[in-house]
Amino acid sequence: MFSWKTRCTLWSVTQSSTAQDIATGSPVRLQAVSAEGQPEVTPALEELYRGFEQELLVPLWTEIGDLMPAHPRSRAVPYLWRWKRLRELADRAGDLVPVGRGGERRAIALANPSLGGRPFATPTLWAAIQYLMPGEDAPEHRHTQHAFRFVVEGSGVWTVVGGDPVPMNRGDFLPQAGWNWHAHHNATSEPMAWIDGLDIPFQYVTEAQFFEFGRDEISDAERITPDRSRSERLWGHPGLRPLSAVPATPGSPLLSYKWEYTNAALGDQLLLEKEGFGGTVEPGHAAVRYSNPHDGSDVLPTVRAEFHRIARGAETAPVRETGSSVYQVFDGSGVVTVGGESWTVSRGDLFVVPSWEPFSARSEAGATDSDEGALDLFRFSDAPVFEALKLNRTRKDA
Ligand SMILES: [Fe+2]
Repeated sequence: MFSWKTRCTLWSVTQSSTAQDIATGSPVRLQAVSAEGQPEVTPALEELYRGFEQELLVPLWTEIGDLMPAHPRSRAVPYLWRWKRLRELADRAGDLVPVGRGGERRAIALANPSLGGRPFATPTLWAAIQYLMPGEDAPEHRHTQHAFRFVVEGSGVWTVVGGDPVPMNRGDFLPQAGWNWHAHHNATSEPMAWIDGLDIPFQYVTEAQFFEFGRDEISDAERITPDRSRSERLWGHPGLRPLSAVPATPGSPLLSYKWEYTNAALGDQLLLEKEGFGGTVEPGHAAVRYSNPHDGSDVLPTVRAEFHRIARGAETAPVRETGSSVYQVFDGSGVVTVGGESWTVSRGDLFVVPSWEPFSARSEAGATDSDEGALDLFRFSDAPVFEALKLNRTRKDA
């Protein structure tokens, strides 16, 4: 039997390839080690390993601790980004970096410190602050990556999806499934920042990405600034689905989930709890999932989005889940704990919960730092992927 210590030690014996390895020969490097569950180290074993290296072969017995761990061990680590600093740097990028064809977006992505400097918040999720100056346009394009926008502050930008201008205001959630044409325009005299979430790292691994440039300019007809998009007029009525023969789309046909509905749903859950009825997920913890009004599924094929409201003084039970999440504090303050890390957080702060790291949150929200006297957390995750592959697991630690 392998001991846990042995499993942890062995997985480091084979290193990934480097340019030097390729120049000098095999990228496979094997070292015979004297350990429980390993063959006796002899000259013959060393000769066998050199043969494996030469023929680009790797035996399972040196790798099993890494390839088949007893439980998920994420390559990502828990990490927190402060909104105040992100805004400062995005403001500076607004002064220095133009938006246009090629770079496409003034989007600045979170890079988990243990993922090699890649712009990946987690192994599957991209999260970025995007910034548009007054009067600016971000040009039209489309890609297979599924995306959304979430607005923690400000207003004034319309995102034009398939020719439908969709307003963006604080608290609004705007999903947009892959392969839809989209552009943005800031119709006001103020800059605006928001967060983008995409499945870029997941599609990077699956190598299924496509991308196309669209028009360099959107039309005057698309430059209008309605309070509601056409998608909201068709799909944005609670519990009512149009009977017209609207074809199913890969993601939600509703392009904006307005804050007034999210806020009311969360507030009602806490009121029902106060009145002695069910509705919250645990005491003082209201939560909703954004869902596709066509069939109730997740809003995007690869991304789940939720909103959590934790009443002042309430604390959530620690939970582990397979798959990773990114949270943004929408309002209020509190302490969040991810694995061995705890942070005091406030509006706009972003943090990641890697796979199988326990997560809990305690609300310290008050009248001075919240509209509703609660810690409000927006969350997105890769849960639909894990559920589709039957790899989803949840465990409450408490
Ligand atoms: Fe895009």
